Amino acid sequence: MVRFVIIESSCMKSLSIDQKRYLEEWMEFLKIPSVSADPAFKQEVAKAADWVKQALDHVGCTTTEIIPTPGHPIVYGEQLIDPKLPTVLVYGHYDVQPPDPLELWESPPFEPVIKSTSLHPEGAVFARGACDDKGQVFMHIKAFEVMKKEGLIGCNIKFMIEGEEEVGSDHLEEFVKNNKSKLACDVILISDTGMISKEQPSISTGLRGLSYMEVTVTGPNRDLHSGLYGGAVANPINVLCEMIAKLHDDQKRVCIPGFYDTVEELSKTEREEMAKAPFEISEFKSSIGINDVSGEAGYSNEERRTIRPTLDVNGIWGGYIGEGAKTVIPSKAHAKISMRLVPNQDWNEISTLFSTYFQSLAPAGVTVEVETHHGGYAYVTPTDNPAYKAAHQAYLDTFGVAPLPSRGGGSIPIVPMFENELGVKSILMGFGLDTDAIHSPNEHFGLFNFFKGIETIPKFYEHYLRLWKETN
Ligand code: BES
Ligand code: MN
Ligand code: MN
Repeated sequence: MVRFVIIESSCMKSLSIDQKRYLEEWMEFLKIPSVSADPAFKQEVAKAADWVKQALDHVGCTTTEIIPTPGHPIVYGEQLIDPKLPTVLVYGHYDVQPPDPLELWESPPFEPVIKSTSLHPEGAVFARGACDDKGQVFMHIKAFEVMKKEGLIGCNIKFMIEGEEEVGSDHLEEFVKNNKSKLACDVILISDTGMISKEQPSISTGLRGLSYMEVTVTGPNRDLHSGLYGGAVANPINVLCEMIAKLHDDQKRVCIPGFYDTVEELSKTEREEMAKAPFEISEFKSSIGINDVSGEAGYSNEERRTIRPTLDVNGIWGGYIGEGAKTVIPSKAHAKISMRLVPNQDWNEISTLFSTYFQSLAPAGVTVEVETHHGGYAYVTPTDNPAYKAAHQAYLDTFGVAPLPSRGGGSIPIVPMFENELGVKSILMGFGLDTDAIHSPNEHFGLFNFFKGIETIPKFYEHYLRLWKETN
């Protein structure tokens, strides 16, 4: 039986029997459409949870369980060897983003295929979740398998793989609060971010926070004929566009009063350190097909997308969007607007500041409703602790290049929550690339990255145990 399609992949021949099996198993996982946002996929999400549990059983976790929540289940597994030794908690998510727009996928999102790309001549697996985060979760499961087979398990290991990360981890906080001793650990290990490039590994030392809002502008009590009423009635879509235009000034700074009040400013030395990371603006532009970049004045491209807070409209709708034309003044217009936040910005406060300011922009003739969806705090990892040093050494061993610390622009709101509830820091050992198209059509994850992950993770445990013993 042909389990997956391989298109022009040069490295397949050089794979070991085990590696080929890992690939096949991973692709089985990717076939399950575990879209957490869409209630129609609830059964599929549950199927993916079962799959993860079985995978953990298969590689020899001593205890595994599926913990139901009012939303999607959490999968837990562990191998405890000695209470005197340190404990590593591996966190990840098996849920994925919706695959839309489907027509832009070159192959169906839940029928994984291996294809070569210019960045991945050895091949990459294309499927929703290939990188974010099924591929990276699976690296941890296989790294465990390798360590187990080779008798290399030197720490207590716990796995907590959730199914609601892409929808805001609504039920994980309660689970963590109620299960502090079950989840007790010395460090949390997460592969759900990226690295600079295949030649230059990096460790994410930060994540941005998030505040996600939805706004509705309401005008007349029904859709109106734009000939009979046009010119005399505030059009909610026109108004919404004017209001959105007032959210940034001409320097691309966010205009919400108080937005920058608590923002952590990096020192000159820290910014100089950041600027040393290899970065090609022309590659950045060509990889996403733009002819110029755009952002806050006074900051570099990399600063804009990592250490600076931002505001973006994520969706806007209203009026007539069907075939042909309809002359109408809509009753309502809507937008989804999110803000990426940096350390010291309180996402609840920012949501309130946004609401107050946005309401204040409303002209006569409309009413405005603002709703907060979800949010989370930013996160920074210190680099002067055994876990960071172990990750550093692990990448150095397998890539032959020292990894650079690198602040990331994305958000994993659960990471600062872990710190608050469990008092434990997370180490973000990501193996993805920005070009892997996570959340976009044609998401993929390079075979090089996948296998390097499986090779690097056991090195982390080895160095962590050694460094932990030196300090304990
Ligand atoms: N894995 C990503 C976050 C990420 C990706 C961080 C790459 C750094 C580098 C995660 O699954 C994600 O998509 N998070 C969401 C937030 C969540 C509340 C939906 C995000 O960043 O938009
Ligand atoms: Mn993710
Ligand atoms: Mn994601």
